[in-house]
Amino acid sequence: MTIDQGTRLADSLARLGTETAFSVLARARELERQGRDVIHLEIGEPDFDTPAHICDAATAAMRAGQTHYCPSAGLVELREAAAEYLGRTRRLPIAPERVLVANGAKPFLFFGILATCNPGDEVIYPDPGFPIYESAINWVGATPVPLPLHEERDFVFDPDELESRLSSRTKLVILNSPQNPTGGVAGRNDLAAAARLIQQTDAWVLSDEVYSEMLYEGEFASIASEPGMLERTILLDGFSKTFAMTGWRCGYAAVPDALVDPLVRFFVNSTSCVPPFIQLAGVAALTGPMDDVEAMMREFRARRALVVEGLNALPGVSCRTPLGAFYAFPNVSGTGFGADELARRLLDEAGVAVLAGSAFGQVGRDNLRLSYANSQANLAAALERIGAFLAGNEPGR
Ligand SMILES: Cc1ncc(COP(=O)(O)O)c(C=O)c1O
Repeated sequence: MTIDQGTRLADSLARLGTETAFSVLARARELERQGRDVIHLEIGEPDFDTPAHICDAATAAMRAGQTHYCPSAGLVELREAAAEYLGRTRRLPIAPERVLVANGAKPFLFFGILATCNPGDEVIYPDPGFPIYESAINWVGATPVPLPLHEERDFVFDPDELESRLSSRTKLVILNSPQNPTGGVAGRNDLAAAARLIQQTDAWVLSDEVYSEMLYEGEFASIASEPGMLERTILLDGFSKTFAMTGWRCGYAAVPDALVDPLVRFFVNSTSCVPPFIQLAGVAALTGPMDDVEAMMREFRARRALVVEGLNALPGVSCRTPLGAFYAFPNVSGTGFGADELARRLLDEAGVAVLAGSAFGQVGRDNLRLSYANSQANLAAALERIGAFLAGNEPGR
């Protein structure tokens, strides 16, 4: 008997989304295999090496035999270092017992939603926003309630719009600042207003702060620092972006007491633990010198200026200056091209890989996301290619 493979898969798979960045990267690599030259502005990872002292800590730990299973909640050394770091940078005391370690920030998003939401619960999340939020919300059968981030507000949520979406059905509010894909950064006032509104409900908060060190102006603010908020907030950070450690797969979060055991159970059921030698490298990252991070941010700042200026010089393109992360989110509606078509054709015809804003939600459908994690020379070449494409082509193919 032949098996119809399609019908033998779980129905729930239809609810699981994905990250377009990985499929665009695959298409770009395919074009490269055919001999085409592609400038990569699609993937969200720093193009810098992980600082040497962090790599040294990992190899020393490996040689010292830190290569076995370890506690699913994380090594005490890293939980303590992360509690100290989160407490210092968010200005509030955090007990190490409430800090958990996972294979990147992503498991906290997925398992955090699984651990808090029932089918039918409402979850408020940013639109445009990191696509895994909506994917996990749909997977559990909860109802996604997008919170629009408008260009006019530099992609920061409007507390009035948050208020109109909060209800007795709201189980979780997801915030992300500095933000992917817009580079928007929420200030203290908006976060304080959000905290006051959320405190009138029973909702949990998931504050995704993986870009917290990637700030170009002003001071970083966290909703967890607002009075009473830590009790209901998953305060999420990680190593991927700050320390150019995307491939190491390590993240951490301070979580409310009631979520410690459920999240650890998800880790036990899925990944068991983060390799201990990686966690010890994480300790070196959080407690060691920040010179490499500062040098990386100086370079990102120069690239930001180059990209924003270059985009705004293109006819029909307007780009706000992002205050954080390493993404530009230009509006391309004035070019006559739809953003989806433009993203597709820039890759196929101009050799520039970018993402269409629609990959991050409806509100970003007129925009592109450019990750400026590439050299200034490549960024300048990409801007030239985009300019030449716009000058020489018509929409509609
Ligand atoms: C907003 C946001 N949260 C979480 C992640 C996932 O980070 P990690 O590599 O730590 O899993 C990303 C990665 O792109 C992100 O942009």
